[in-house]
Amino acid sequence: MSGLAKTFPLSKKELEELTNTYPTPFYLYDEKAIRNNARRITGAFGVFPGFKEHFAVKALPNPAILKILAEEGFGADCSSLMELLLAEMAGLKGEEIMFSSNNTPAEEYREARRLGAVINLDDFSHIEFLQNSAGLPELISCRYNPGPIKAGNAIIGKPEEAKYGFTREQILAAYPLLQENGVKRFGLHTMVASNELSLEYHIETARMLFELVVEIKEKTGISMEFANLGGGVGIPYEPEDKAVDYQDLVKGIKAAYREIIDPACLDSHPPLGIRIEWGRAVTGPYGWLVTRAIHTKNIYRSYIGLDACMADFMRPAIYGAYHHISVLGRENETPVGIFDVTGSLCENNDKFAVQRPLPKIDSGDFVIIHDAGAHGRAMGFNYNGKLRCGELLVKSEGNIVQIRRPETAADYFATIE
Ligand SMILES: Cc1ncc(COP(=O)(O)O)c(C=O)c1O
Repeated sequence: MSGLAKTFPLSKKELEELTNTYPTPFYLYDEKAIRNNARRITGAFGVFPGFKEHFAVKALPNPAILKILAEEGFGADCSSLMELLLAEMAGLKGEEIMFSSNNTPAEEYREARRLGAVINLDDFSHIEFLQNSAGLPELISCRYNPGPIKAGNAIIGKPEEAKYGFTREQILAAYPLLQENGVKRFGLHTMVASNELSLEYHIETARMLFELVVEIKEKTGISMEFANLGGGVGIPYEPEDKAVDYQDLVKGIKAAYREIIDPACLDSHPPLGIRIEWGRAVTGPYGWLVTRAIHTKNIYRSYIGLDACMADFMRPAIYGAYHHISVLGRENETPVGIFDVTGSLCENNDKFAVQRPLPKIDSGDFVIIHDAGAHGRAMGFNYNGKLRCGELLVKSEGNIVQIRRPETAADYFATIE
């Protein structure tokens, strides 16, 4: 599947009607598409023993979405106390929840322990910290940072410059220490990429982790119950990008498993399980930021001003990320000019697109920002006193429900004494 044909689930007439009840801007998510995608992921990865996808809550932290994914058999990957509470709110419990935090406060470990979540330690020093603050659980995972490897990409950077995880030496020392202190079951985790479309990259990451599983067994006698390959699978943001083929990806990871894990006779019962914690690839393509154009401006450049801003959606501004933009009803019209598409924040990087060829856009036209279903509303903020927009869900049955209302002035002032 390539991103070439960017779709939107509603016609212009349907959207006109919807905005009588819910004015723009808002996020819109497509339940049926999310469920179909979840089934394709499970269908492909189901070949592995003990497979579990723990959806990265940070990508789309809304309990309505977490519940849909839970019904599809997904757990949650949480990075903070509030995300743990969101997972609980969605009905997830115990080992369905991974807790992959870093620089973790004691109260967050206590909450993770209360929920029985699988704690994924980010640092050697946290073994003692966790023991003192919340006690060590029976099952624990450690996050590996491989240091200088040829991997590393624009968003996450080079692993040796990333703050996450244990070094190889630390990880080899960590498991025996954990075992001495009563831990009985173990997992190994890594995440060295973000928004990476290359299959080889993800297969190499799996290979690296499998080799480490074998090395840990050889050097410490400790068997891993699971290897967690993290998130970071990319989506085709640009029309010419090619989506990751799940079957091909699994084929590559399976070959590495057969080559490295099978002959190592790890003597683990059950055999090494595979976990992932994808966010973007699960919901990203099935969410849209729906806006209206409110102004055009012509100075040294031409600008289209929208009724949403970077406070609703900051990926283009902070990463220079490409998000496809279409004008509902004008998808097939030829561009009439090159525009910067902006919000209303007093920040010059408050732009959804820079120098983008676009068709004629009149004030009031629906401007759709595509692939906004992950790391979208979640990254919003209140700078300039901007209120973040709400979220709607097109249910599988076709009806549309609001799953988060827009912020109000009362929300904005609620924390002021
Ligand atoms: C630990 C961890 N797991 C999973 C994810 C999800 O990544 P993605 O949405 O790119 O799959 C992230 C993203 O930052 C992360 O930090």
